[in-house]
Amino acid sequence: MPEPSSLLLSRQPRARWMRLDTAQLLKRFFFCERSLLVSQAGWIPAIAPLEIKTGMARFIWQSAETAQALRERVFELRFPNRLLEEEGADRALVELFSAVSNSPSAPAFLLSVGKVLLPALRDTYQAYLELSDSIADGPTHRFLSLALSEKEEQVSSFEQWSESALIHNPDLRKGALAWTHAVANRLSHVGGVGVGPSPCAAPVGLLPGSKTYTIPRRPARDPRFWPCRFYWPDVVDPTYPSGEGMQLQLRSAISHLNEVWAIEAGGVILSAFADVLPWEWIHNSARWTYDESRHCRMGYERLMAWGLDPAEIPLGTYIYESVSGADPAEVPLYLLGMLYFFETKNIRHKPARAKLFHGYGDALSEHDMDFDWADETMHAGYGKHWLKELLAVRGQDPAAYDQVRERCEKLVHDFVSTATPTEAASIKKVASSLVAKAACRT
Ligand SMILES: [Fe+2]
Ligand SMILES: [Fe+2]
Repeated sequence: MPEPSSLLLSRQPRARWMRLDTAQLLKRFFFCERSLLVSQAGWIPAIAPLEIKTGMARFIWQSAETAQALRERVFELRFPNRLLEEEGADRALVELFSAVSNSPSAPAFLLSVGKVLLPALRDTYQAYLELSDSIADGPTHRFLSLALSEKEEQVSSFEQWSESALIHNPDLRKGALAWTHAVANRLSHVGGVGVGPSPCAAPVGLLPGSKTYTIPRRPARDPRFWPCRFYWPDVVDPTYPSGEGMQLQLRSAISHLNEVWAIEAGGVILSAFADVLPWEWIHNSARWTYDESRHCRMGYERLMAWGLDPAEIPLGTYIYESVSGADPAEVPLYLLGMLYFFETKNIRHKPARAKLFHGYGDALSEHDMDFDWADETMHAGYGKHWLKELLAVRGQDPAAYDQVRERCEKLVHDFVSTATPTEAASIKKVASSLVAKAACRT
C-alpha cells in the first residue's frame, strides 16, 4: 500500500455518492413517485371539480414518466442486475405515500399531498441536483430537473385546490388540518424523503384519522354543469338524430367533455391493479388516464370557445355507473372492459368525423378529433393487452377478454334501460335549448 502522503488525495464533493449509493436514492424516489401516483389515481372519481380531475390525471402521468426514468436509471447503475427489489429500508416511508389514499376526506387528501408529500419530494429533488455529480450522473440530472419543475407546479396546484375545497367544505377544515399534521409527523418520524441513508424505520401502523378508501358508486360531478345520468338524447332514444352541421359540432364537443368518465375509470383501474400487474401497467394506464383528461378538456375548451354556459351543458355519469350492475368485487375489471368497449366501438367513426369538420371549416373540432383518434388507437391496444394479462394473472383464459367486452356492452344496455321518461324528456329539453343558444352564436 503506498503512503497516503504520496497520493493525490483531497476532499472531492463529486465523489460524495458512489454508484450504488446513487442507485439506492433513486430507487427510493421511484417508490415514492409510484405510491403517490397510485394514491392520486384512486381519488379521481371522488373529487368533483373538473379542473382537479384533469389536473391530477396530468400529474399522475408526470409522476409515472419520472418513475419510469428513475427505474431505467437504477437498472443502468446496477447493471447487470435487472432486479428492482422491494422498497427495502424505505418501506415505512413508501407506506406513508400510500397511506394518504385513506385520507378522511377529499380536502384532507388534497391538503396532505399539497402541503407535505409533494413539498418533501420537491425539496429532495432540489437537494439531489445540488449534491450529486452532474458529470457521472448527468443522465439523472436531465430528467430530475424536469421532475423538479413539475413538482413546483404540482405543489402550487394542490395548494390552490385544497384551499378551494376547504372554502366549499368549511366543516371539513379541522379534520383536514389534523390529518395533514399527522402525515407531516409521520414523515418526520420515518426520516423524511431526503438524500441521506435510509433510516430503516419500522412500519408504524395506521395513521390516526384514516378512513379506508372505497371507490364511489356514483362519481362526483362538477356542480357548474347540468347534472344528469345520460348526457345526450341519442343515448336513451336511438331514433334521436345525431344531426349534422352545428348540431354535430355540439354533439362531438359534449361527447369529448363527457369523457370525464374515462379519466375516472383510468384512475380506478390504475390503482386497483397496481399491485397485481407489473410496473408497465402503471406506466401505460397513467398515460391512458392523462389522454382521456386531454379529450375531456378538448370538449370543454371548444364549448367555452363557442361562448356556452357550463350550467346549460349536460355532464353525465351513465357509463361509469353502468358497472354497478356487476359484482362489486369486479367493478375495476368491468371499468377496464368498459374503456376497451368504448375505445373499439367509436374509433372507426373518428377519421370520418374529422373529415366532416374539415369540410365545415371547423379546424378546431377537426384538430381535436384527429389527435383523439391517434390516442384511441393506442388505447385499444392497451385495453386488449391488459385485459388478457389480467385474466392470465387471475388464472383465467386470456382469450376471454372479448367476453368481458360483451358483458360491458350488456351492462351499459341494461343501465340505459333504467332511464325514466322524465329523464329522457329533460335531456331532450336541455339539448334543444343548447342547440338554440349555439344557433344564436353562429
Ligand atoms: Fe378518449
Ligand atoms: Fe381512449
